[in-house]
Amino acid sequence: MHSSTHRVAAVQTEPRFGELEANLAALDDALRGVEADLIVLPELCSTGYTFLDRAEAHAHAETFPSGPLGERLCAWSKRTGGMIVAGFAERDGDAVYNAAAIVAAGQPLGVYRKLHLFGFERECFDRGQGPLRVFEHAGLRVGVMICFDWIFPEAARALALGGADVIAHPSNLVLPGWCQQAMLVRALENRVFTVTANRVGREHRDPRPALAFTGTSRIAGPDGRPLADGPEHDTTVLTASIDTAVSRCKTLSSGNDLFVERRPELYGRWSDPNPQ
Ligand code: ACM
Repeated sequence: MHSSTHRVAAVQTEPRFGELEANLAALDDALRGVEADLIVLPELCSTGYTFLDRAEAHAHAETFPSGPLGERLCAWSKRTGGMIVAGFAERDGDAVYNAAAIVAAGQPLGVYRKLHLFGFERECFDRGQGPLRVFEHAGLRVGVMICFDWIFPEAARALALGGADVIAHPSNLVLPGWCQQAMLVRALENRVFTVTANRVGREHRDPRPALAFTGTSRIAGPDGRPLADGPEHDTTVLTASIDTAVSRCKTLSSGNDLFVERRPELYGRWSDPNPQ
């Protein structure tokens, strides 16, 4: 029988574009001494973000679990005994995905490929075709989505309905604080914990506009409050203790059950791609 309390961590880093070895070494440093049942790293944490085109993304991408990041993740998670979720560029034949690797206790568990690509990402990556998945390790159920997936509440809802206690959310956020605010609502409306691991710093790769990443990684609780927040500009590790007894109770103080009282049979008309 596992305890219902778990320690989660978000690692806020500053990857350098295209500097794989330096980025892996920085992750190695950041993870030293971090003991947590779930560690979340940013989106594209080993490559940087601003690819110029598909060919470049493909050239920097790796296969999972046999690539350089995948192998490190397995080693790190063997040490912690817990789960790690990390964003990376995944190559699968000719296809290339903005993906997250999920490992636990030294073993690969799977990959999630980002469903909703942001802006220029559509020129560089194939869209993931799902499914949204919940991974379980040592009594903790972890749903995975990546960065811009946050603006589609259906993603977090699907993960919560799939049994997630916590949503692991590797990110490279560039919009002004919207996601950090919204994650309080994603947590509240689904009664789950969320761990958004964002990055800091700036990338400018001509001819793309410069991007400033917004830091402020956030761990949020099912009551819609932040449990831990990172700084805007510096690298850091934030941690919090979470209780799955809380995320598995969908009953509000009013006695309403958030999931039982949904009425999906009446929502269908708007799910039609061409509503009349
Ligand atoms: C984003 O989805 N990386 C903004």
